[in-house]
Amino acid sequence: GPAAVEERRGAPGPDAPRAARAPDTVRPSRPEETPMTVAATPATTPFPEDFLWGTATASHQVEGGNTNNDVWLYEHVPNTMYAESSGDACDHYNRYRSDIALLASLGLNAYRFSLEWSRIEPAPGEFSAVAIAHYRDMLRACHEHGLTPIVTYHHFTSPTWLIARGGWEDKATPGLFARYCRRVTAELGDMFDLVCTMNEPNLAILLREMGLCEATPGARLNNPTWVGAARALGTTADRVAGFQLSATQEAFEVKVAAHRAAVEAIKGVDPAMRVGWTLANSDFHAAPGGEERVARMIEENNLRYLRVSEGDDFVGLQTYNRTVLGPDGPVPPAEGAVVNPAGEEIWPWAIGAVIRQAQEIVKVPIIVTENGLNTEDDAQRVDFLRTAIAEVGAAIADGAPVGGYMCWSAMDNFEWIFGYGPKFGIIAVDRDTQERTLKESARVYGEIARTNGAVLGGRARRDR
Ligand code: BGC
Repeated sequence: GPAAVEERRGAPGPDAPRAARAPDTVRPSRPEETPMTVAATPATTPFPEDFLWGTATASHQVEGGNTNNDVWLYEHVPNTMYAESSGDACDHYNRYRSDIALLASLGLNAYRFSLEWSRIEPAPGEFSAVAIAHYRDMLRACHEHGLTPIVTYHHFTSPTWLIARGGWEDKATPGLFARYCRRVTAELGDMFDLVCTMNEPNLAILLREMGLCEATPGARLNNPTWVGAARALGTTADRVAGFQLSATQEAFEVKVAAHRAAVEAIKGVDPAMRVGWTLANSDFHAAPGGEERVARMIEENNLRYLRVSEGDDFVGLQTYNRTVLGPDGPVPPAEGAVVNPAGEEIWPWAIGAVIRQAQEIVKVPIIVTENGLNTEDDAQRVDFLRTAIAEVGAAIADGAPVGGYMCWSAMDNFEWIFGYGPKFGIIAVDRDTQERTLKESARVYGEIARTNGAVLGGRARRDR
């Protein structure tokens, strides 16, 4: 509870001496802190006055009872690679009003969440008025509490009927996705003006590089999760193309076509809607011998997706840490690296690097639609948020057009194949009672939001 997190106040802040650093090829040395010189309003913060400060969630990870989508199916097949069922998740489908009130009470002014396609269109062409009314009330609650909604139309989960017919490798999917986007914009679009069509079409590329998903449709025939899902869907495992774990060339083409079709459909209904997609771009670093791999991944995972954003109203960037590649793929954190309890390196500077790279490639406004840390140790999250947000501020001071920052995540939730193990939330959720408990990071992040970043003061650095 709060008492426990209070005790951690004495933990070293981001300005405390860091552990020894690995060789410079892997870790750029930390430049001297430079005072902020670019005037902004108010003078103590680089963040523009209308900056959006929020948290992000996704339907399947928090709602509970999403039994009509593909991920629920994958969770429940024999020998699944999913650690556990999403089950009731955070019961956000019922608790959204109190959750939204809680987020607003922290001092935030935005909330990014996703619509669950499988609830809205449970069968092809059949739309649920009840599900649409549900999301309308969620949007109403956001407005009542002063939170600007950022609405994601697709966050990894798809109706099972879409996957049965070939999913994210099927040429008909862009048209089906556009039909859904057109309908929800017509029904709900008066309640918001920021839409992310789809979430992280490129995550699968990053996961493939880490050996976590298949590179070709044929390779799926060896994965019991796809074999089981195929049996249930009346298809074959090579044709089970879910969104999150399809890294094939076919999937790249279908996702790009679906985004473009969605933008057109949404603008056709509401030309003033601001539309973009969100990208899992990473900050790639080469360990000795990894230079070629890094160059290839920068192009394959980051740049080619950024180019698709040209002409959009914004691009969402979602970066958690950096990816260090050697000649054979990702290398483990160097000796002395700062790591979370799971042994993953903590590298809050990645988001700044990714923003600067995006700015060079595509001339559209940026929203940090996700950034955060998986840790059981909330003091690490407090450090992480302060440093990462200062990096965003420094990029803004250097001219990057960043309009908002969404912390992942509002609450501890269902982390896909890893189940409820990982903890990304600034709010803890009791898995038995659904009770919410604010963590210290929620208080700190709220203060950053309420002061529009001014509380970070001299933390903002330039020229990293
Ligand atoms: C996704 C989230 C996920 C988060 C943390 C992003 O890849 O959009 O759904 O929970 O990262 O891993």
